[in-house]
Amino acid sequence: MRFVVTGGAGFVGSHLVKLLVEEGHEITVIDNLHKGKKENLTSVINKIKFQKIDIRDYESMRKILKNIDGVFHQAALTVVQDSFARPEEYFDVNVHGTENIFKLANENKFKVVYASSSSVYGHKLETPIAEDTERNPINPYGKTKLETEYLVEKYSKLNAEIINRAKLPSL
Ligand SMILES: NC(=O)c1ccc[n+]([C@@H]2O[C@H](COP(=O)([O-])OP(=O)(O)OC[C@H]3O[C@@H](n4cnc5c(N)ncnc54)[C@H](O)[C@@H]3O)[C@@H](O)[C@H]2O)c1
Repeated sequence: MRFVVTGGAGFVGSHLVKLLVEEGHEITVIDNLHKGKKENLTSVINKIKFQKIDIRDYESMRKILKNIDGVFHQAALTVVQDSFARPEEYFDVNVHGTENIFKLANENKFKVVYASSSSVYGHKLETPIAEDTERNPINPYGKTKLETEYLVEKYSKLNAEIINRAKLPSL
């Protein structure tokens, strides 16, 4: 199958890319290398397409997110402490950037697996955390992740097929 992994040069994304390549899928990575590194993909770099693109760049995203089966959306700004210093930028990347992908999923009919975070629940909780636990983020990073969970709910009602990571069935 043909998949795009956003944030594919990052920690989770690069492991996911290697697994998907091993399983024989055709992979395009989108990453602006803000934090991720191409070296994380050295072992598969000749087997994938790599696009250095910012997920906020809708027109560039539109060119790539077509004729595909799905997007594993891992790209985000992810450092909690940093999110206090730059809350607007965190909102722009994590919420507006993600909404670009959901809009295109609706338009071009591909599935999305969205990586949310336990930070949406706020204070430290005992694990495992039930999905219906009250969501109450306590930092700007967690707030962007919650805002995007609302977008998952909104776009799912518009028939986009968006799966929150906690509920991942086989694609
Ligand atoms: N690692 C964890 O423990 C954990 C826990 C909960 C949720 N998550 C979520 O999983 C996802 C992946 O986390 P990670 O630990 O791999 O983070 P990471 O920071 O290692 O990877 C994120 C990637 O996104 C890229 N990126 C950032 N802004 C971008 C932009 N505007 N356009 C394109 N690419 C951009 C970065 O360069 C990086 O490669 C994130 O959405 C994160 O919120 C991670």
